Amino acid sequence: MNYTKADFGPDFDWGVAVSSYQIEGAHDADGKGQSIWDRFSHQGKRIEDGSDGKIACDFYNRYKQDIDIIKDLNLKHFRFSISWPRILPEGTGEVNEAGVDFYNRMIDYCLECGITPWLTVYHWDLPLALEKKGGWTNRSIVYYFKEYVDVCTKRFGDRVTNWIVMNEPFSFTALGYLFGYYAPGKFGVNNFLPSVHHANLCQAEGGRIIRRNVPNANIGTAISCSHVKPASNQPKHIAAAKRVDVMFNRLYIEPILGMGYPVVDFPFLERIEKYIHPYDEELMKFDFDFIGLQNYYSLVAYNNPVVPYLKAFVKPFKKLNRPLTANGWEVYPEGIYHILKQYEKYPIKKIIVTENGAAFHDKVIDGRVHDTGRLNYLQTYIEQVLRAKNEGMNIGGYFVWTLMDNFEWKAGFKSRFGIVHVNFLTQKRIIKDSGLWIKEFLKMV
Ligand code: FCB
Repeated sequence: MNYTKADFGPDFDWGVAVSSYQIEGAHDADGKGQSIWDRFSHQGKRIEDGSDGKIACDFYNRYKQDIDIIKDLNLKHFRFSISWPRILPEGTGEVNEAGVDFYNRMIDYCLECGITPWLTVYHWDLPLALEKKGGWTNRSIVYYFKEYVDVCTKRFGDRVTNWIVMNEPFSFTALGYLFGYYAPGKFGVNNFLPSVHHANLCQAEGGRIIRRNVPNANIGTAISCSHVKPASNQPKHIAAAKRVDVMFNRLYIEPILGMGYPVVDFPFLERIEKYIHPYDEELMKFDFDFIGLQNYYSLVAYNNPVVPYLKAFVKPFKKLNRPLTANGWEVYPEGIYHILKQYEKYPIKKIIVTENGAAFHDKVIDGRVHDTGRLNYLQTYIEQVLRAKNEGMNIGGYFVWTLMDNFEWKAGFKSRFGIVHVNFLTQKRIIKDSGLWIKEFLKMV
């Protein structure tokens, strides 16, 4: 490793990210309502290891201990999300004060420890009550979302300045409403396309409410991004790669930047017209202070006429024979550099890497976790972030996904992404070697 913290400059924000359903547990404590993930995890064999987030890391009760660990690791920024049904059990209407109190206690403790809170408004745990009304497919979600953002900003905006409206709209719309792979388990383009459009409207509408209620706010939204390469130079694969790039990378960023939907490279998207009301193009625009870029893997796109709509399929980069993570994603650090550079063409003020990390099959041996795979992943990806920054890109921060092993959605507790190991039977935490490295790295001036 031939770089130090100083190479990133004194204003670079180093942090760690988590989300409510993945860590909090306390699924029905103190008046919390149900979310789509509470239900989804109990519908048949949805979750690979048959688990759910009822207890998860028990962060609801152990937040002080976990924030102490963040402090110990020399990380100064903590990104978490609010569970919508914890503070609005029905998604709308009456506020659950006990739920608000939990976040107040947690935010206050961060501040007491000198850790800056970064609040993600929506990280996928939609109130079940709203899903019963159609969830993201129903345009009225925009009104419910605005009400929710209004509550969050009024309750937490006096202490929280860093706001992320949404986490990866691609993941919850495509995986949740097109492929039925994530909650709420819906299928098909007639569910997917309205969800895309309403999520895009909510990114901008949410941004506007934050701006109105929290005048000094630093406002962003977090987009999943994967560098896409065509399988070969054949025109059919190049066109396939463009369609994949639209789906995975462009669909949720270009509309909010005022560029409209990228229909030219993926004409199928013309079908979204049906859900667009007059003035929506304007409503989808918002002047974000930063865009959160989240990257895990890169993709190779192949033309394939048999695949519905996309007419393409994707594979992780395999050609180079590089190491794989526990999810079978290839460790390809240059991928984050390429996708950062792809963002160079956009009129964005600042980029923050709001998630990056990897799962490995970690083992506790004599009270230690020697996660060399993750250590190598983080060191090499961070180096590529520095490369893009040194080439002049305004990259203002990096958040590791994630603080501690947690409920990894469909994979349950099988996929361990943490820099801190969690024993889910005893809730014991052990800082892994990757976490110890971060602690050392961030100590340097
Ligand atoms: C991202 C999600 C996050 C976590 C990581 C591994 O797509 O935002 O919650 O699941 O993947």
